[in-house]
Formats: sequence, structure tokens, C-alpha cells
Amino acid sequence: MTLILGLESSCDDSAAALVTSDRRILAQAVVGQNSAHQPYGGVVPEIAARAHVEVLPGLIDRVLAEAGVRPDQLDAVAATAGPGLIGGVMVGLLAGKGLALAAGKPLVAVNHLEGHALSPRLSDPNLGFPYLLLLASGGHCQLLEVRGVGDYRRLATTIDDAAGEAFDKAAKLLGLDYPGGPAIEQLARQGDPTAVALPRPLVGSGEPHFSFAGLKSAVQRAAAAGTHRAADIAASFQQAVVDCLVDRTRLALARSDAPTLVVAGGVAANGAVRAALQQLAERHGRTFTSPPGWLCTDNAAMIAWAGAERLAAGLNDGLDAPARARWPLDAAADAVRGAGVKA
Ligand code: KG4
Ligand code: ZN
Repeated sequence: MTLILGLESSCDDSAAALVTSDRRILAQAVVGQNSAHQPYGGVVPEIAARAHVEVLPGLIDRVLAEAGVRPDQLDAVAATAGPGLIGGVMVGLLAGKGLALAAGKPLVAVNHLEGHALSPRLSDPNLGFPYLLLLASGGHCQLLEVRGVGDYRRLATTIDDAAGEAFDKAAKLLGLDYPGGPAIEQLARQGDPTAVALPRPLVGSGEPHFSFAGLKSAVQRAAAAGTHRAADIAASFQQAVVDCLVDRTRLALARSDAPTLVVAGGVAANGAVRAALQQLAERHGRTFTSPPGWLCTDNAAMIAWAGAERLAAGLNDGLDAPARARWPLDAAADAVRGAGVKA
């Protein structure tokens, strides 16, 4: 059994967690920065980095105290080393390096996307490799065959916006707060998903890629028309996203014999998304799993867990591990037209 401290700071959540290789989460804490970015209508990288500097040391103390663990009892320190907003990534990674150095323990420089990708193995002890993963977050929308720790084959990605980004933009158009996903999901409960005719970009196309930019423009037109209830637009938008995710994932399932379908990343916290993908998996004779909502949105337990998995695979990093703004999980995947803009 190993004990790992995980740190996360790649976007607008500061997080620390203590996780064991036998799947016990001894302590975990996340502090968001919504109010700091609220006046600007989006995440401001400089403000985010400064907030991580202020918050992260206290979070580390808090999880260690809560679990009654001293730094010298750790087996390793795992910190997100990218991809993400580079200032924030550097803050968390340097904190991790300092702790690892002081405690004389190995550092694991974790790819944030690998944190999301392996998180279902923390919540579901029965999930073995390979599995087909829909990774849908604020910065990414990808279909990946997860073959092992550090072994990913990308089947598809978005050619423009990420799925979570689409939720955030649609929410903004409807006058809802950031992050838009939970706000849209809540409002959609009072709406009719068939009320507003919205496009399903790329549905039916031959490659399982995603596109959400046209959907956002259609929401903009529907909101500007002033003839629809906001709840109906929210419900119709959410249904359109679900239809896109299901159609594209269906195509990827046909190209993979992985026995299990998994959805992870912030958008996987959405009940309609989870239910639709579970049904899809059942129709195609695959099992389905997804982490609990709190483990889908950004957190440090998934980073600690990815650290535990990498450590078990004999992988750790030197104190010279770089912070990376861009860091694809499948470096061999071809660039897709319009893709690669998002970190
Ligand atoms: O994984 P995450 O916390 O951060 C990134 O790595 O990007 O994902 C955040 C994204 C945001 O765009 C947020 O709106 C979306 O996930 N999200 C949701 C829900 N909760 C968070 N989208 C739809 N429904 C939700 N319940
Ligand atoms: Zn994330």
C-alpha cells in the first residue's frame, strides 16, 4: 500500500488530497475561485495563479492534519504538471516539488487529462484495461481507448469548442452564472427539451469527432429572438449536447472492442449525459461506469490516484519535470482541422 499527496491547480480550482493505492481517500479539499473571476465573465489566468499561491499551502496543511499524516509518511507527491493555464500549473507543480524535496520523496508529474482518465479506476475497483473513455470537460472533448497507465489511443476530439465550454457559453447567453454546466442542468429540469429546434453538429458524419460552435450560435439566435422560455432553451440545448455525445460515442464503440464505456471530466457530472451514455453502453452490450460527480469535476484525489497508478507502474519524475501548457495524452494522434486551439 502506498500513500500519495495529490495537488491540482491547472485551472480555477485549487485542490489537495491524500489517497492510498488501495482506493482510500483519507482527505480531500477543493477551493474554487468563481467569485474572483465573476466580474470578468471568465477565468483570468493571472488572477487564477495568484489565488493558487494564496490557497494551496493552507489546503495542503488541512488535508495532512485531517488525515493525521506527516509529510515523511508519504510515499510520493503527485502534482498536475499540465495541460492548463501555465501560471497556475507552475504554482502547484512547484509546491509539489518543494514538498517532495523537503520530505525526500519521489515526485510524480501528472497529466491532468490522465487524472480524469484514470479517475474511474479509483471509484470502481472492477474497472480493468482497456476501456473506451469519453473525456468531456471545460477544455477537452475526446474519445480515448485507455489501454493502460500512460497508454492512450485517441479516436476523436473536438474540432472547435469543448463540451463543457459549450455549456459555459450557452449559460452566459442565458444570463446564468459560471460554471454553466450545473446552472443549465438545473434550469433544464423545468424546460421542454423538444421546444427549441437546435442543430446536432457532425451527427452522422463518418469520423467520431465533435463540434459545438454551431450549437452555441444557434442558442445565441434563440435567446435573441425572445420568443422562448430560458428553461426551454436550456433543456433543448442540453438535449442537443447529449445527442451529439451519444452519436459520436456510438461510432467510437463500433471501432473498439473495449468491454466497458466510461465517461469522466466535468461534463460527466451531468445526470442526463450519464443516463444517455449508460443506455448506449447497455444497447451495445458493454458495461458502463462513471465516477461520482465530485470526482468528475476538477479535484486532487484523481491526481493523487493517477500518481499512485504511475508509481505502481514504476514511473516517477525528477525535480526538473517541466510545467506544460499543452500536453496531449496521445502524442501520436493526428491534428484535426480546427482542433488544438484549446489548452
Ligand atoms: O473537469 P472540469 O472540472 O475542468 C476542466 O478540466 O475543464 O470541467 C469543468 C467543466 C465546465 O465547463 C463546467 O460547466 C462543466 O465541466 N460541468 C458540467 C456540469 N458540471 C460541470 N457540465 C454539464 N453539467 C454539469 N452538471
Ligand atoms: Zn479537468
